[in-house]
Amino acid sequence: MKPTNSPKTYRVKSFGCQMNVYDGERMAEMLGERGIVPAPEGEDADLVVLNTCHIREKAAEKVYSDIGRLTKGKTQDKAPMIAVAGCVAQAEGEEIMARAPAVSMVVGPQAYHRLPEMLDKAVQGERATDTDMPAIAKFAALPERKRTNPASFLTVQEGCDKFCTYCVVPYTRGAEISRPYGDLVTEARKLVDAGAKEITLLGQNVSAWSGEDDKGHAVGLAGLIRDLAKVDGLARIRYTTSHPADMDDDLIAAHGEIDKLMPFLHLPVQAGSDRVLKAMNRSHTADSYLRLLERFRAARPDLALSGDFIVGFPGETDAEFEETLNLVDAVGYAQAFSFKYSPRPGTPAASMEGQVAKEVMDERLQRLQAALNRDQWAFNRATEGRTCEVLVERKGKHPGQWLGKTPWLQSAWFEGDVGIGDLVQVELVEAGPNSLAGRLREHVAA
Ligand code: SAH
Ligand code: SF4
Ligand code: F3S
Repeated sequence: MKPTNSPKTYRVKSFGCQMNVYDGERMAEMLGERGIVPAPEGEDADLVVLNTCHIREKAAEKVYSDIGRLTKGKTQDKAPMIAVAGCVAQAEGEEIMARAPAVSMVVGPQAYHRLPEMLDKAVQGERATDTDMPAIAKFAALPERKRTNPASFLTVQEGCDKFCTYCVVPYTRGAEISRPYGDLVTEARKLVDAGAKEITLLGQNVSAWSGEDDKGHAVGLAGLIRDLAKVDGLARIRYTTSHPADMDDDLIAAHGEIDKLMPFLHLPVQAGSDRVLKAMNRSHTADSYLRLLERFRAARPDLALSGDFIVGFPGETDAEFEETLNLVDAVGYAQAFSFKYSPRPGTPAASMEGQVAKEVMDERLQRLQAALNRDQWAFNRATEGRTCEVLVERKGKHPGQWLGKTPWLQSAWFEGDVGIGDLVQVELVEAGPNSLAGRLREHVAA
């Protein structure tokens, strides 16, 4: 590649989970430190970071089609500089370099603190790949948090040791590690100073977080949440994603005790059949999952539940799929994510017998999603008439309209004289399948 001008504008496109979004924000901050500014909406950027996700097939294909779109019909000096980051970069870095000559940088999720150095090389015309996994080193090397959204993310834990047989995350993100307590309290304070009202603690297995508080006492996620709740100006705390195996009594109790901890729990179950769960290497049964939820609901009766599901895991029979539907009926989720099983290279499930036909998966997904949508709408209807606190996150489609989140993570829109970042009382007037129309109660603009 030829040496090129230093990029002046950037765009970071994140395709994956919330941790991937967090990584994208941190990369943007690093580029900002270098004096590179976000490209204005609708304009081409000089540097595009494709922050990829490897969890299912289509996501990786999307990366290649994006590269094609960015470079189509453009000579090298007109095309943007392209960096591929995220989990596809980790898993297929070499392949990307070989298959897409337009890419100048490939950087894995544990190595992106080195993006500025790689950029220097790229400007000199050198292509660079970094997919090392030093994990914790990354955070220390990142710049301070200076700007943020009212609802912010904070990665507290990374990696996964659970090795569910279908999943690439243990390979793309590496082993479970927890960021130190002190660093997290500091970063949370910085986020609040920068305007955050709500912080969602992130981790592939956030409930596996462990550390030592400033007195040297061992603490788990509940202890961390208790201490973060003392941060002045922080109004709401959430966490995601949890694994049923790591949920302890302390965390359950925290839901009943800490007002700032929002009444919402995302706890993936994946399937309703114990045989399938075992083949997935999930360490819970349908029944142990339901009993766990009962304990959470006893601590916090208005808790809204969310989950993840996979249909068509190898060998899943019609009867086993019915067990997933039964579990959904038993829980009554407020929202949920559901996916068709996607064989991932290198995972045990990819070579299991009994791969399920696409048409069967399509039909199962449709039935599951119909049930989940029905329950989501029912949950929304059950909150009609309530007045609750809404965190204003952005402007709505129409002038004077605002969009925010209820404590139960529903989107609510309403009109009134408010601003982004305000916490306001809103009466939920009419429930739709995906959001609620609200009416602003008395509010004195800040
Ligand atoms: N650590 C979290 C989330 C992991 S990825 C957890 O354990 O739940 C998010 C979701 O993607 C998973 O919960 C699962 O439902 C889905 N998923 C992961 N691998 C998949 C695959 N190979 N095919 C389809 N869905 C998958
Ligand atoms: Fe993947 Fe399972 Fe780990 Fe979640 S717990 S990241 S699904 S291996
Ligand atoms: Fe995707 Fe990586 Fe997250 S594979 S779901 S971006 S951990």
